[in-house]
Amino acid sequence: MTWKKISLLLCVFGFLKEFRPSEPFVTEYLTGPWKNFTETQVTQEIYPVGTYSYMATLVAVFLVTDLVRYKPVIILCGITGSCTYITLILAQSIWEMEIVQFLIGLFLASEVAYFTYIYAKVSKLHYQEVTSYTRTAILLGRFTASVASQLTVSLNVLNYHQLNYLTLSALILATIWALFLPSVSQSIYFHRPMDAVSNESSAFENEVSRVEHAKGKRSHSQQNLQFEALNKNSSLTTKVKNAYYFLWNDFLAAYSNFYVLKWSIWWSFATCGYTQVINYVQLLWQDSLEGEDSVYNAGVEAVYTILGALTAFGVGKLRLNWPAIGEATLSIFALLQGSSLIVASQTYNIWLSYTIYVIFGLLYQAMITIASSEVAKNLSEDSYGLIFGVNTLIALLLQSLLTFVVTGKNVLALPIRAQYLVYGGFFITLGVVFFMIAVFTTVVRCKNGKRFLLWQPGETSDSS
Ligand SMILES: *[C@@H]1O[C@H](CO)[C@@H](O)[C@H](O)[C@H]1NC(C)=O
Repeated sequence: MTWKKISLLLCVFGFLKEFRPSEPFVTEYLTGPWKNFTETQVTQEIYPVGTYSYMATLVAVFLVTDLVRYKPVIILCGITGSCTYITLILAQSIWEMEIVQFLIGLFLASEVAYFTYIYAKVSKLHYQEVTSYTRTAILLGRFTASVASQLTVSLNVLNYHQLNYLTLSALILATIWALFLPSVSQSIYFHRPMDAVSNESSAFENEVSRVEHAKGKRSHSQQNLQFEALNKNSSLTTKVKNAYYFLWNDFLAAYSNFYVLKWSIWWSFATCGYTQVINYVQLLWQDSLEGEDSVYNAGVEAVYTILGALTAFGVGKLRLNWPAIGEATLSIFALLQGSSLIVASQTYNIWLSYTIYVIFGLLYQAMITIASSEVAKNLSEDSYGLIFGVNTLIALLLQSLLTFVVTGKNVLALPIRAQYLVYGGFFITLGVVFFMIAVFTTVVRCKNGKRFLLWQPGETSDSS
């Protein structure tokens, strides 16, 4: 199958998976007459389970994805998504809602298969195109879902409960669609194509290494040759040993690079804060509405999706000298994010609250686009998935800790506005820390006599 056909299959799956029109109103749904949960129950007992479950299942799903070679986990993703909404439609008690949240965690974790499938199935030459196609498909799915959601709700065509059936249908279709994806015969850690690599290495690896001139990149061909003998009689134990070796090697190679480490730290902390803010924002809005009925959650989501796509696209085109001004930018953005959250925590004006949500999200989208490309530039392509996975895992560990302390029944158990004050403080702290790192690195750069360039220097000059 050609890479174009595979991209199309992946895009349709991504679109269907993201078509979840019930999502913008899920808090309204849970606290409405269909379920009658209180805001406290939603904050303290229901939503935290999703974060814990995502964290707990991510490592297992990441490894299993590689072991069973992607496709089964993509199908699992569709199945858990469908089960989530069936359970949500039926659930009446807290513990049933906790099962729903557990399934959501598993659903989010199994998305990793979707994102890594490309890198196993499509040749390196087309990575960038396929990545941008699937990303567009996902955004289009979210946008269409938000528009459909807002229109059907505002025009009284569907209520919050009926929206779940729309979501469920899309997820069932996605599951069926996933069955038609071609299987993958190789994977990055458990099923390396040893013979193929040594045969093709002369032509293909040369081509690749010509393209990869960035520092810190290395090809796996030498290691592959070294392990070829072992893999001839590849029992499961051997495969596990090899996989462990490759994983650990990639891990060390990536995080011993200080530049990668620095951006990864920001990535994990900012993603933790961002996800936490996104997860609980509907409760904040509900508090501002005070029983008023006109809610535009989905409309705001639609606007945010479009602007987010434009931001990511625009930032991708910026040719700034990130090694020189990266930390300063991160610091300013985090301080802006922190201050806007503090305003959001105090205001009862719903439109201001919506606007802050969009601005906060766009600042994150801009910086995460840069963070992921700066990290990716300094990695060998094979370890891309691993590092993204590890950064996400650390973000989830931090988020679980934050959730536990802030919303935990026996810990702080803060009401929603106080929570947002804490999240604001979290971003301000992040901003201050990166401000200090920025001052430090600038001093070091000046001492080393480097010129302070705002724009990316030419291709040939160094980027350390
Ligand atoms: C929720 O509460 C409303 C009003 O008290 C009631 O009419 C409705 O039947 C309740 N729903 C459930 C599922 O308990």
